[in-house]
Amino acid sequence: MADGSFAGKALGVCMGKSIIVINGPNLNLLGTREPEIYGSTTLSDIEDMTRAHGETIGIETVFFQSNQEGEMVDAIQRASGSHSGIILNAAAYTHTSVALQDAIKATGLPVVEVHLSNIFSREEFRHHSYISPVAAGVICGFGAKGYVLALDALADIID
Ligand code: DQA
Repeated sequence: MADGSFAGKALGVCMGKSIIVINGPNLNLLGTREPEIYGSTTLSDIEDMTRAHGETIGIETVFFQSNQEGEMVDAIQRASGSHSGIILNAAAYTHTSVALQDAIKATGLPVVEVHLSNIFSREEFRHHSYISPVAAGVICGFGAKGYVLALDALADIID
């Protein structure tokens, strides 16, 4: 069966749920970008880890990365209708983007905000987030593992 949702319902397990992981500017450079802050794990590694964890808990994961704020807004808008929730690392746009905050409010989907680094132990301009007030929760400072933690948190919310 192409869509596992019927089988999932029949078995009484969580199937047919899909979430999108949206990563913002410069996160395509993970692995080589400031590894002393962000580690040596690449974005592709993070996607593999998150996808694998999603498979173990019955959630499909879809990935999107852009360096453009407007493309991220478009991805958030498109998410309603096709996904049950969003994991969002808006990177530098976290600290600047009213447009991303508005897009999240417009979708009404639950968002878990993720940062690899502990933004509160870094420069003061990173302490403010436009995403946090409209996020279900925030995970930061745990590196790549934060995405897996976020997936568990989002799974509980959309269950
Ligand atoms: C980041 C933290 C942001 O302040 C920074 O601009 C990033 C990455 C993180 O994952 O730690 O690009 O979101």
